Parts: sequence; C-alpha cells; structure tokens
Amino acid sequence: MMSTISEKSQGLQGKITVAGDKSVSHRALILGALASGTTEISGLLTADDVMNTAKAVQAFGARVVFDADGRCFVTGVETLSEPDAVLDMGNAGTATRLLAGLVATRPMTCFFTGDPSLRSRPMKRIAEPLSLFGATLTTREGGRLPMCVHGAENPLPVKYRLPVASAQVKSAVLLAGLNVEGETIVEEPVLSRDHTERMLKAFGANVRFEALAGGGRKIILKGKAKLTAQKVVVPADISSAAFPIVAALIVPNSRLIIENVGVNPLRTGILTALKQMGADVALQNERVVSGEPIADVAVRSCVLKGARIDASLVPSMIDEYPVLAIACAFAHGQSRLCGLAELKVKESDRFQGILDGLKANGVNAFAQGDDIIVDGCGGAVAGGGVIETRLDHRMAMAFAVMGMAAQKAVTLDDTAAISTSFPDFIGLMNKIGAKIS
Ligand code: S3P
Repeated sequence: MMSTISEKSQGLQGKITVAGDKSVSHRALILGALASGTTEISGLLTADDVMNTAKAVQAFGARVVFDADGRCFVTGVETLSEPDAVLDMGNAGTATRLLAGLVATRPMTCFFTGDPSLRSRPMKRIAEPLSLFGATLTTREGGRLPMCVHGAENPLPVKYRLPVASAQVKSAVLLAGLNVEGETIVEEPVLSRDHTERMLKAFGANVRFEALAGGGRKIILKGKAKLTAQKVVVPADISSAAFPIVAALIVPNSRLIIENVGVNPLRTGILTALKQMGADVALQNERVVSGEPIADVAVRSCVLKGARIDASLVPSMIDEYPVLAIACAFAHGQSRLCGLAELKVKESDRFQGILDGLKANGVNAFAQGDDIIVDGCGGAVAGGGVIETRLDHRMAMAFAVMGMAAQKAVTLDDTAAISTSFPDFIGLMNKIGAKIS
C-alpha cells in the first residue's frame, strides 16, 4: 500500500472530460448481453467495477470486444448460460445486485463474491424481493457475500414496494421481471435514478409508469419482450464530475468546464445542494444523448456558505456526500446534511468516515441521529490529516480534493480503489493544476 499526498493548488484551470457514467455503463453491458444483435457502446467506463461486469456477462455467454477507439461491442445471447465459476465482482456492488436479479428468474445457480468491502455489504435488500419470484438466495450471516443465487424454474411476476430508495434494488427486480410472463410491478415511494427504465425502453422492453400519491411512481414491466441491440453513448459521470466541481469551488483562482456530463434530474442533487451553498456553477449546452440529458458544467471558485441539505435530496446525490462534506468544511457557517443512514452501507461506512476524516483535518463535525453537522472553516481548513480510505474510491477522491485547498497537505493511506470508478482522476487533476503525488 502506497500513500498519496494532496497539496495546496494555486488554481485549477481548463476544459476536461471525466470518466464515463458507472451506472449507465453497467446497464449497457447487461442489456447488451440480453439483446439480439450487437450493441455498440461508446464512452463506456473502463474502470475495474465495469470490467468486472464485462467479465460477468461473458461468463453468462455474451461476447464483449473493444475496438482501437475504445468502443465496446456486446453481442447478446438468447439463453444465458450458467457461469462455471464463482463471479468475483471485486468492489462492484451495483453489478452484483443487478446480476443477481438477472439470475433470479433463470434456471441456473450462480455464485458471487467480491473484495473485503463488497463482502461486508448487505444483500438482504435484494434477497427479499428476488425470493418473491421463487429464487433462493443464500448468503453468509448478515446477508453478506459470498452469495449463491439459485434461479426460479417457474418464476412468477412480482409486485414490490421499495422499503428504501434504491436504484440497485429497483433494477434487480426489473431485470428479474424481464424473464417472467406477466407484469412485474415496482412501486418506489421516493424516486431514484432511472437509467434502467430509460435503457429498457430504448432496447424495446414494455415499460410504463403511473404516478403514486406523494411524488413516487409505479413502474410496470411486461416480461418476455424481445430486446434489440442499440447504440449507446455513455455520458460522463456526474458522480465523478463532482470531485473537480467541488475542487474548483474551493481552490481560489479556479475556472473549469467539465464536458458532456450526465445531468439526469435524478442525479443532480449535488448541483442543487452546491447552489444552495452559493456555488458558481452553471449548465451549458444542454442536450439529450441516448435518452439521457447531458450538459457541460461550468464552475468557478467562490465563497460558499453553510446550508441545511434536506433529506429529500439523498437519492439524487447519494454518492456525492463525501465531497459535499468537503465543500461544507470550506464554507462559512454551519451545514446540516440530513438523513444519511444509507451512507453506512456503501463501499465503506461513509457516515463515520466523513466524521473521522473531517476531524483529522481540523474541521469540527458531529452526528445527530442520521444527520451530519459540519462547522465550516470559512475557507481556512487546517488539513494535515491522514485518511484511511478503506477500499472506498469516493472517500479517497473527496479527501484528495480537500488537500487541494487546505493549509497543510492531506495524506491518503491508499488510493488503489480510485481505479474502480475514475482511473485517471489523479492524472487529470494534476494536469489542470492539482498537486497529488
Ligand atoms: C447505483 C445506485 C446507488 C448508488 C450506486 C450506484 C446504481 O445505490 O449509491 O453507487 O447504479 O443503481 P443504491 O441503490 O444502494 O442507493
């Protein structure tokens, strides 16, 4: 394990493109594997998590090839074959849960494992709805991997109301429903990212929606539709763009444009929260590509003020809290980030990690129930702390961002996990003025 140091930058300047969207990349590979014909994916994220999905769909019988320009071609199979070895999904929680959904309604038995981070994450949230189809999911104690999914021989359609806002659980149920006669219905009282629904429609699945009282919606999927290969253009990942966005806000003399960022309204909570804090961030050149809204994000350094970030924003910025907490540390005044229970079951316990990391760098932060309160330092964060990144890419990148503007450098014990979502993060940030070594 080699430690990495992020030191104060004099300003971040440039026009950059960040890594492809991880959520969209997983889904493009999975639907491509199910569709008849060859799906052409441009902009696929070629990071560890997505490569694990690519390996997995090959284990189910699909063909995946890349050309010299980095385009990915997935040729689907009519009947998925049973993988003849355990699928090691590395750090990829989304892929594990989505693929478990795929297996749940097919006559096969499939074994999943992962790295120590993934092996500590809860799978009961998918085991419950997938067993309603007739599948059997066997896990270790605590609902953890390794996990065996024994698909149902004669699956039944399911009606399921999500107990937590989770796009992974929703998507697992919808992917299971694809192979079942009849209508599979998912009710989500609180909306979560809808990339699966958008892409299912594009590939020819029969999906419709009904509004639920209180702002949620019902997703109705008619199973056994024939999916047809598509051309998919993957937008840049707003969850990766969030790091240079916050970096540019807190490092004085910064001005960045981040191109082709996916701005699906169910993903842009970070922009809403930052604007609430007074951020100078704007969308330019908004358009729709492959059924997903995209835009260039223009951002300039400015004075941030503390804010109360409501729990209703959690689903649309679930992965952005580590870096939002960094913005709060540099703001003037106190911030309250509400309703963060789900942060405890991410790649690491981000709830505790945020508190520990802020404190280690001289920022007063504390918990009240499921809320995190951060006392902003008004631009003058001490820094100087050492962060244990615990196989969590986003914790590593968030605290690297802190180091770019703190008085003393921030040390990260290990940055290997960054390769799960944004392999070029350090190189790209250094190119525009960061000092990470
Ligand atoms: C994801 C959904 C979110 C998010 C994860 C990606 C997806 O997880 O945190 O990084 O692609 O569906 P939950 O469904 O657990 O909220």
